[in-house]
Order: sequence, then structure tokens, then C-alpha cells
Amino acid sequence: MTREIKKKSLSRTINYEKFKKRRLVLKKNLQQITAGKPFTAILHSGLEVSRNGDVFYPFRCDSNFYYLTGFNESNAWMMMYSDGKRQYEEIIISKTKDKTKELWDGDIIGQEKAKKKYLFDKAYSIEVVDQTVISKLELSQCIFFPISDRNFSRTVSDWLSKLTRKKRMGIDNPDHLGDLSRILENQRVVKDLYELKIMKKAASISAAAHIEAMKVSKPGLKEFDIETELLRVFRNNGAYDVAYPCIVAGGPNACVLHHKAGSRLLQKNDLVLIDAGCELQGYASDITRTFPVSGKFTEAQKLIYEIVLQAQKDAIQKIKVGKKYATPHDAAVRSITKNLIDAGLIKNKSVDEAIEKRDYQRFYMHKTGHWLGLDVHDVGSYDTTFKENMVLTVEPGIYIRPSKDIPREFWNIGIRIEDDVVVKEEGCELISRGVPVELNEVEKLASL
Ligand code: GLY
Ligand code: MN
Ligand code: MN
Repeated sequence: MTREIKKKSLSRTINYEKFKKRRLVLKKNLQQITAGKPFTAILHSGLEVSRNGDVFYPFRCDSNFYYLTGFNESNAWMMMYSDGKRQYEEIIISKTKDKTKELWDGDIIGQEKAKKKYLFDKAYSIEVVDQTVISKLELSQCIFFPISDRNFSRTVSDWLSKLTRKKRMGIDNPDHLGDLSRILENQRVVKDLYELKIMKKAASISAAAHIEAMKVSKPGLKEFDIETELLRVFRNNGAYDVAYPCIVAGGPNACVLHHKAGSRLLQKNDLVLIDAGCELQGYASDITRTFPVSGKFTEAQKLIYEIVLQAQKDAIQKIKVGKKYATPHDAAVRSITKNLIDAGLIKNKSVDEAIEKRDYQRFYMHKTGHWLGLDVHDVGSYDTTFKENMVLTVEPGIYIRPSKDIPREFWNIGIRIEDDVVVKEEGCELISRGVPVELNEVEKLASL
């Protein structure tokens, strides 16, 4: 029997009030920054990218644009304009409805629906984008947009050069350019309750997929076959996209950190490392489990698994409001270093000395996690302290390449364990533990 997760709790109808509220939070921020000066903030949803000829990659909306609008359509602009006093407008500029195009590619939202459903004050056709934007820029002293995006900067520069030509008519260029991505980072890194609900559901779908993948894995299957199972469970539960390409790594492939599922046949003594997460309503989940294909870890695999799991537990212990972001990573490094010394894989050193010399990096070369949200490696500063409802991953790993100074039974072991957590006042909430992590439970599932 296939395990499908309960269909309750998350409504498929998107609540656009929530997106409007986020725009109003941003507006307040911008008003503070601009201190009474008129401003325009502008974002683009992105273009469809051609693969070859008239075939396109699947469209993925710009995350900032989606965060503020929920408007999941290519080539749309959203603007927030304030005169610095009472006047404030939210504007959406998008494709015009077109029966012929819709016959090929489906519904275009169009201006009427854009305004009504997505709660904008004004909606214009993309055909008048330049004049619409310029009409607001000429009233603004400050413009906010994603400055580090080259194409975006070029477009803004084109608009501004048109304004320069109007100088003699008494219209000045805005004199302050602000990075909207930077400002939104701080807003996005703390999740609201609506986002948390979606993220918990995404994590539970991914957990269910990992369970099925463990159950179907057996010697003779290809990594691809396991990926197919993951995708099947994602989609059957309403998550049609992946947050990143599925990593399914059998045997030595597990020592390649981002190995994509390929044609390798799984073998009897292989470990399989699966790092896979669905995307649900734009939000990522990101889970890794490592298990023995045959259902039984070898002694060497068991030893390393327990070291990684202990490191994850030690890191999780350190996550709570007020702690520095680096604390869980430091805890994982200390835990791994101590246990690798005890196992004889780091030689003749004290823990402090081995950490100082970074001896662990030969086996553990990545960080213990990252922010998670609309993007799998989500926005947010890493030089910060934890606040309530930030979401991050905790993902220590050990990867052992063949080497003369390492006993052969450890060669090619690659183990990572990754869970998604929400920061709380007195600790954190693990949202991806729908899939077990303890060694005996993993063995049990893998042997089914
Ligand atoms: N799946 C990519 C990562 O864990 O960071
Ligand atoms: Mn991750
Ligand atoms: Mn991952």
C-alpha cells in the first residue's frame, strides 16, 4: 500500500490578502527609509527562458515578486508608489488577454482579474510598461529595485535616461537608488504563519516520499527508479515541482555532494543518499536520509551514521531565539571532530587542535545548514542571531574518499542527514521528521 499523507489542512485556494499584507509591511519599511520623500519600488516576475526554438524551460516566478503578489505569470511588473505623504498606489503591469495565445498556452490573467483578485489599485497592459513606469519615476526621489540584477539595472537605466531628457521641463531624476532585494531579505527570512503552514505541509509530503523511496529501494534498481518514486509521491500529494533536482546517490556517488540521480545500479552493500524536497505553492522543503539498500548497515557504515546523527542532534540543541546563527555549525563540527578522533579517522590530535587545524574538513566540507523558504537556499544574512519563525536546515555529513591512511571498510561511505526546523523561543520545531532518522528505524524501513 502506498502511504499518502492526509489531505487535510492546507487549502488549495490562495489567500491574496496575505500577499497584500506583505506589501503593506514593505511599504512601512520604505516609508521609514525614505523619511517623507516620494518613492517607487519595482519588481519583475521574470521572463520565460527559451530552451531551443519555441520550446521553453518551465517558468519559475521570481521569488521576491511572488512573495509580494502571488501573481505567478511571466513578464509582469509590480510597482508600489508613494508621494511621501498620503497618496499610495499598488500597480500591476502584465500580459494582455489574447484568445490565440491562450489557445496554445492556457489562461492569461489579464488586467481585470489582476486588479480584482490580486488586490491591486491599478492594472495596465505590458504594452504600456515604459510610459506607466516613467510616469511614476518622474514623481519619485527614490527608486527601489534589485540592484545586483544586471538586466534589471539596465532596464531602470533606460527609463532614467528617458527622464534625463525631460530635465529641461523641470523633471529631475530620482537621486536615491535602493536595493529592494536587501530590504526584502530581512522581511522574508522570518516566516509568517501562512508560510509556515505551507512549509510544514511541503516537509510532510517530502517525508512521505522519502519513506516510499526507502521502501522500494533494492539491489538492481537504478538511482533514476528511486527518483521516479519520489516524484510520484510529490505529485500525488499536490506538489508538482521539486525545490531542486533530486539527489539520489548510490555507493561512492554519495561522496559527490550534489550528485544528481543517474543510471547507476544499486548494489547489495551500497548506502543510498537521497537529498530531495518538493516545492509546494512556491515553498521549498529539503530533506536528506541515508540508508543501506539491503536494509542492514555494515559495522563501519553504522559507526559513521551514528557520528553524523549525533552531530545533527548536537546542532539542533543549539537552535533557539537569540543564539548566533553559527552556533549549530560549531557544535556539529566539534561533535564530528571528537567522534572521528575516537574512531581513529583523525589521528593524534586533541579536539581543539583538530578543529583549529580544520582536520574535519577532509570529511565534512560543507556548512551545517542554510535558510529555507521560497528558495531552497533562501535569502537572509548569515551574520545574525536566530529570531522566532526563521526556518533553516540542519544537515551535517561525512564523506570518506578512498585513501591509504583510511581502513578500507570506510572507503566511499557518504552519509548526510538533513532536517528542516523552525526557530522557537525555547528551542526549535522539527518539521521534516515524518521520515524517521534513528538507525534501527531506517534499517527497518529499508528492509521492507
Ligand atoms: N539540497 C541542497 C542542500 O541540501 O543544500
Ligand atoms: Mn539543504
Ligand atoms: Mn538537501
